[in-house]
This record gives sequence, structure tokens and C-alpha cells, in this order.
Amino acid sequence: MSGVLSGARDAINPLRQLTLDQLRQRTSLKWREYPDDVLPLWVAEMDVPLAEPVARAITDAVARGDTGYTAGTAYPRALAEFARRRWGWDGLAVERTALVPDVMHGVVEALRLVTGPGDAVVVNCPVYPPFYEFVAHAGRRIVEAPLGEDLRIDLDALEEVFRRARTGGRPAAYLLCSPHNPTGVIHTADELAAVADLAGRHGVRVVADEIHAPVVAGGARFTPYLSVPGAENGLSLMSASKGWNLAGLRGGLLIAGPAAAGDLARVPFEASVSTSHLGVIAHTAAFCDGGEWLDAVLTGLDDNRRLLAALLAEHLPAVGYHPGQATYLAWLDCRALGLGDDPAAVFLDRGRVALNSGSAFGTGGDGHVRLNLATAPELITEAVRRMAAAVV
Ligand SMILES: Cc1ncc(COP(=O)(O)O)c(C=O)c1O
Repeated sequence: MSGVLSGARDAINPLRQLTLDQLRQRTSLKWREYPDDVLPLWVAEMDVPLAEPVARAITDAVARGDTGYTAGTAYPRALAEFARRRWGWDGLAVERTALVPDVMHGVVEALRLVTGPGDAVVVNCPVYPPFYEFVAHAGRRIVEAPLGEDLRIDLDALEEVFRRARTGGRPAAYLLCSPHNPTGVIHTADELAAVADLAGRHGVRVVADEIHAPVVAGGARFTPYLSVPGAENGLSLMSASKGWNLAGLRGGLLIAGPAAAGDLARVPFEASVSTSHLGVIAHTAAFCDGGEWLDAVLTGLDDNRRLLAALLAEHLPAVGYHPGQATYLAWLDCRALGLGDDPAAVFLDRGRVALNSGSAFGTGGDGHVRLNLATAPELITEAVRRMAAAVV
């Protein structure tokens, strides 16, 4: 790419707009958990200014004093249109959606619809740590089906676990992370169809957490779980939260396949009325008008994945990194560094860089760290410099 073109691209890259001083003024978790000498590349927040259409929608609402309870179907309609444009999927029926306060509370509501207390919830470890905590808090039992060596779903292992989970005919659910956090793997349409077939044959209900769906690498294609054959009784959670950095403006949608409409109708009143009206306004604006901004972020993330791979090859060649095709998270295998089960503790202590400890992601996570790529290239460069300095 020519210098002029890449200069123009950098100018619009939301990941390059904020200085470290500006970021340190933030009061959210990413920037407040650690002291100022620590570079925080951990929790899934993005170091970007708010997308202009989203900022405008919220400030307009605030100017109107429009801060009451939420109403209407603008959010599912916006997401249905986005799904049509981005993923070529026209199966998101507005009448088969329910607002939820956020994705994890939506996951819990979905699991409550299809399982009872003490029933099994299958997850593909290593996986997003709150899956363990929220499932336990909901009184269900986590059963791990480890990913394969290639970090993809191991269908044989999954079948074995489905069989065990259904012992005695008890209900069971499969909490699918799609795309997968922390590996960034996008499950293919064929893999998802195989999952749906397996779940159908074993009577396991699928709940797909698709929060990262908008965040895909250039040239990659996300397939919504509910769009594959056999997924008719599936449930999905979607949100603009990750794509547009809206965790502080919470909101999410629970979406039912055609054969799960009856389940969705049982979502309790108290779950569906707890969504923030400002959150709904923000998420709706993101899905309606935030496409161009999202594309600029995605281009920046493509650059950051390449940058991280080059930096690791140069400074920490023993670290294993397979750039994912989705999410802004990088899953780093640090086992060859000899730093023990929790290399994140060493990088924090000696390198003053905060990453997520792989151990929290369940079986298979020891010796790994998760690094958040949604930041300026300069900060990724500095983070790898600090990590390399921590191991010598
Ligand atoms: C897979 C996954 N699900 C859910 C969440 C959290 O979503 P929410 O804040 O809407 O509960 C995250 C946040 O990073 C995530 O990675």
C-alpha cells in the first residue's frame, strides 16, 4: 500500500485516535484496575472514541430527556437489517426476539428456558471465564468439552460429552461461543451444521453466544448459528457491545429459531424489562448507522493482528500465536517460556503489562495469556517489548 493511502487509512482508524494520556483518564475497568505504570491490554474494552452515529443518538436522547423505560422493536429491526447486509441472513424474525439486559444475563435466561437446576451446560474450554461463573450462579453444572489441538471444536469429544450430559434423560444445553473467545476462531457453516446435527441427535439444546459476530477479519465470513440446517430449536444472543465498545451502555437480544419460539415466550417479564433505554438507543444506532466506523476498526484490527505476529516472531519467538479470524483478542501459548501456569502474573509483575491469565479460561488455559488487540499499534509494540523484557 502506498504511503499516502496508508496515511489516509491511519487517519480514520479509530484505534489510533486516542493518546495514552487520554486513555488513562477513562474510569472504566480496563484503565482503572491497575496502577498507572501498568499497560492494560486485558479486559474486552476497545481503546476507541465512541462511533459518531452512536454518540449522536445518545446525546440527542439526553438532550430530549429521553431516559425512561425502553419500548418498541427498533433494536431487533436494526439487527435484522444488519444481519441481512453483513451475513446475508434474513432469518432473524423480530417477533422471535426478546430484549435482555446484556449478553451474559441473556445467556442465563436462555439456559433457564431449556434446562433445570443441576442440569449440564457444555462449554468448549478454554473459553470466556464468566461462562463458568454465570452458569454456576444459575445453578447449572458446567461440563467441559475441550477444543481440539487445532483450537477448533472437536466433534468426537463433543459427542462423548453430550452423551454423558444426557445421562438418565436429563435436559442439557451446549453454550457455544461463536466466534470463539479467546481463540478468535470462526466456526464454519459446516462445523455449525455438524454441531446442530449432533445436538439434535442427542437432545441437547444449543445456546449460541454470538456477541463477537460483527468483529471479523478482512475476507473472513461469520455464519449465524440459527442460519444452519438443524438449528431450528436453537437460541442465540447478539449485541452491539463488542463491535462498538458499548459495555457501558448495556443491551442485548435473545433470538429464537422457529422451533424455539415457544421457549422464548416463557422469558419472564422481569428479564425482558430490565434493558437500559439508552443502551437500546446506542445499540440500535450502531447496527443502523455504525457500519462504516466498524469497517475502519476491522481494518485497524487486521493491521494489529499482523503487527502482533511480527513482534512476537522478532522478540518472543517461543510464544505460539495463531491469529484468529474474529474478535480483537489474541490467545498466546507461553508454555515454552518456562514461566509456569500463570505467565500473566509474571508479565504483570516484571513487565508491568496486564493480560488475562489463561488459567481462568478453564482446562487447557494454563500457560496461556489473552492479549487485547483493540488498541493503538504503538501500545501493542510497547506491550510486547515489556513482555520480552520480563522473560530475560
Ligand atoms: C463471549 C462473550 N460473551 C459475553 C460477553 C459479555 O457481554 P455482556 O457485557 O453484554 O454481558 C463477552 C465480553 O467480552 C464475551 O466475550
